[in-house]
Amino acid sequence: MSAAKPLLKVDGLAAGYGDLRVVWDVSFEVSPGRLTVLLGRNGAGKTTTLRAISGLNKLTGGRIEFDGEQIDKATVAERVRMGMSYVQEGKRVLHAQTVEENLLLGGRVRNVRRSALHEDIDRIYGLFPILKAKRSLPAGSMSGGQQQMLAIGSALMARPRLLLLDEPSGGLAPVVVKEVMQRVAELKETGIGIILVEQAVEASLAIADDVVVVDMGRNVLAGPAGEMDLEELKRAYFGTRTPDGGTVVSS
Ligand SMILES: Nc1ncnc2c1ncn2[C@@H]1O[C@H](COP(=O)(O)OP(=O)(O)OP(=O)(O)O)[C@@H](O)[C@H]1O
Ligand SMILES: [Mg+2]
Repeated sequence: MSAAKPLLKVDGLAAGYGDLRVVWDVSFEVSPGRLTVLLGRNGAGKTTTLRAISGLNKLTGGRIEFDGEQIDKATVAERVRMGMSYVQEGKRVLHAQTVEENLLLGGRVRNVRRSALHEDIDRIYGLFPILKAKRSLPAGSMSGGQQQMLAIGSALMARPRLLLLDEPSGGLAPVVVKEVMQRVAELKETGIGIILVEQAVEASLAIADDVVVVDMGRNVLAGPAGEMDLEELKRAYFGTRTPDGGTVVSS
């Protein structure tokens, strides 16, 4: 996928809920400073894949390597300490707390004095100037797009090396989606690796380095974003797997 040493390697990942397996065989890599977009329709297994990577769901097959180390058995907290930060689907900010309080809470996992977090907060304000302008306001008073930026900013307070973003475009107007994607693209320049789960196909392809399409819990297409054939991608995205593993195109 890329020349740089991968930060995350997911190989044949299988996961589910209790005895129910919903992800069967998902594989991809993420390198530092690069963004892998995970596409797929509703129920394809995208969120479950992120949950398994972050440790919230048990791995029932395959393996996960982070920074060259197998982490299949690591707890959620250990993965956070290793440098994974997961922004879950939906709004993840505390509405009654101010923007700055939300950021401070995001930094809590680092276990350092509050005063030591202000350098990080300034860095986040540099990335998202709107958060600086609204720093003393309750997070709930901000627009959906601004809250999404705060959720991402709070996750960055943990100083992750890998950021997992689950549908940051959810519920946002197209023009706002574009802005959020632009900010996410800028994060790559800080050197972190990003997994972006999306249904906003075109907006996310515009900022992706690598693409994985998942359907019914399996990879159906993977490759560099620049080499993706949009028609082939659409077929993979909307395709339905047949029992022999082939793909039929639904009209
Ligand atoms: N807590 C749960 N318990 C049981 N089954 C679940 C649970 N969460 C999700 N599932 C099932 O697992 C499958 C994959 O769901 P998942 O949330 O990973 O899909 P997704 O690709 O993220 O979809 P969406 O685009 O709608 O967010 C679906 O069939 C879903 O119904
Ligand atoms: Mg989901």
